[in-house]
Amino acid sequence: MCGIVGYIGNKDASPILLAGLKRLEYRGYDSYGFCFINEGKASLFKRVGKIERTEKEFVDCNFKGNLAICHSRWATTGLVTEENAHPHSDCKGEIFVVHNGIIENYKELRTKLINEGHVFKSETDTEVLAHLIEKHFDGVLEDAVRKALKEVRGTYGLAVVSTKDPDKLVAARLSSPLIIGVGVDELLVASDPSAIIARTRQIIILDDYEIAVLRKDGFNIFKEEVENKKQIETIEWDIEQAEKGGYEHFMLKEIMEEGNVIEDAIRGRMLKEEGLVKLGGLDSVEKELRDIEKIILIGCGTAHYACKVGEYMLEEYADIPAETDIGSEFRYRKPVVDKNTAAIFVSQSGETADTLAALKEMKEKGILTLGVTNVVGSSQSRETNAGVYTRSGPEIAVASTKALVGQLTTLAMITVYLGRQREMALVMGKRIVEELIKLPQLAETILKTREDIKKIAEKYKDYRDFWYIGRKYNFPVALEGALKLKEISYIHAEGAAGGELKHGPLALVDENCPTIAICPTDSVYEKMISNIEEVKARKGKVIAIATEGNEEIGKIADDVIYIPKTLEMLTPIISVIPLHLFAYYIASALGRDIDKPKNLAKSVTVE
Ligand code: M6R
Repeated sequence: MCGIVGYIGNKDASPILLAGLKRLEYRGYDSYGFCFINEGKASLFKRVGKIERTEKEFVDCNFKGNLAICHSRWATTGLVTEENAHPHSDCKGEIFVVHNGIIENYKELRTKLINEGHVFKSETDTEVLAHLIEKHFDGVLEDAVRKALKEVRGTYGLAVVSTKDPDKLVAARLSSPLIIGVGVDELLVASDPSAIIARTRQIIILDDYEIAVLRKDGFNIFKEEVENKKQIETIEWDIEQAEKGGYEHFMLKEIMEEGNVIEDAIRGRMLKEEGLVKLGGLDSVEKELRDIEKIILIGCGTAHYACKVGEYMLEEYADIPAETDIGSEFRYRKPVVDKNTAAIFVSQSGETADTLAALKEMKEKGILTLGVTNVVGSSQSRETNAGVYTRSGPEIAVASTKALVGQLTTLAMITVYLGRQREMALVMGKRIVEELIKLPQLAETILKTREDIKKIAEKYKDYRDFWYIGRKYNFPVALEGALKLKEISYIHAEGAAGGELKHGPLALVDENCPTIAICPTDSVYEKMISNIEEVKARKGKVIAIATEGNEEIGKIADDVIYIPKTLEMLTPIISVIPLHLFAYYIASALGRDIDKPKNLAKSVTVE
């Protein structure tokens, strides 16, 4: 996820874009950049880090121009460097592009363009767009953009300017949000309304495959070269709401992105016919991975629960012995490892001190280290031998939600990758890949039921203790559900394996302590039903997370939240979604400070 703002009008673009871009930093903040077009010349400014660090430097440059674009980056392809910061340009420095999204076929395009003589300055996928536009440029910028986009596969929200067609700004969209702001004698383009709301509330939402051409005196929007007359809408949100995409909290916005997170994680990585997963980040260690006989997965908090699910996946489908630990314990253990052990470190931030300390230990022992990381260029991604980015975009709320979904999806992909290196049959690889491709849609169907989940949450908001139970793949999901409820609602909650209830926790179950049972129709379903009956026999209320079509469960449980059917190993990726919503709506009903719960920090960089 990145932020884009562009301006064309009669005013000085610099302060307008600076203010707008600062509002979009929640979408990405590892580097930023501007391009101003003035009197046929382009001026560029790019820096690494948040805007506030170098804002004075930018202001002191006193850039002039009524036409400009800018971008705040959340790295996906290419490290966090000034060269990789947007805008990117063509060979001659005449065409400038800012982009949000992923160009899946950028490697092939880049090789082709290099063979045709183009010279690249960055490692990004975006730069191929600048060179493609250059290749097709024949005096009319929008025509070149249209032709260039026909060659790319992937997603984009983009804004393009050129010194060779200097009185226009061209914007285009496919699956990455982009809006046009219609002001008085000025037009703006932005990733979301928060960037432009201070100047205008009149917006047009660009749809997929549309290309907009903005000039000082007006604009046109085209789809397939045919002009599209679009309605101007008025935004009623205030600035803060706009930043959160109209949601009340970042946490809810992030939960609502969980379907997109799966889609972004798998984008360009699924080889359906071959039943394989392509993970470029593991290419450099592909051979060593073939010899690995044991994997240790390490993370903290929510990331640790992802590890736990990963352990089950790797053992069942890749046939590799796996174990899991939390960072703060692992570093004080004496783990038995040898040269055929690999360690996978899972972290959203890539900066969690306990996880990094465990990573250091493993590196000292000389074993292969892999990262499953969201933040590109973070310590974890730099320190591990190789790894896979989860591509979940910035997570702002302290409670981790969408990052977990990205981690689980990535671990499922790693399982297929390692499994297919070993005994996993083609048919099984294909099956998992096919089911992964369906997951974003399944996640969306759950998200659509959020009002029903809200009603259930409101019904249970006054209980002070909860149990969460699950078995096998959904045992870690139970732990996650309980952690989320504790973190943001301050209600006491415990997670347990369903089979453990009778070994102690049942003593606490009564009519005042509801149990959330994650019991999809899978290999442990019957066992979960026995556990639910144990709870009911003690007068405990039960909220079941069950598979669509299971009507029987309604006869035992007090409330049921349905999720669609998928492969057992992939169930946690979607069964966790209702638990995130449930915790959110309870905290919301109790009026908690959801995005910043007391006593907690987003990234725990101390031991
Ligand atoms: O950035 P990380 O994924 O390494 O963070 C790990 C934990 O600190 C994090 O998951 C924490 O447990 C969250 N507050 C959970 O919601």
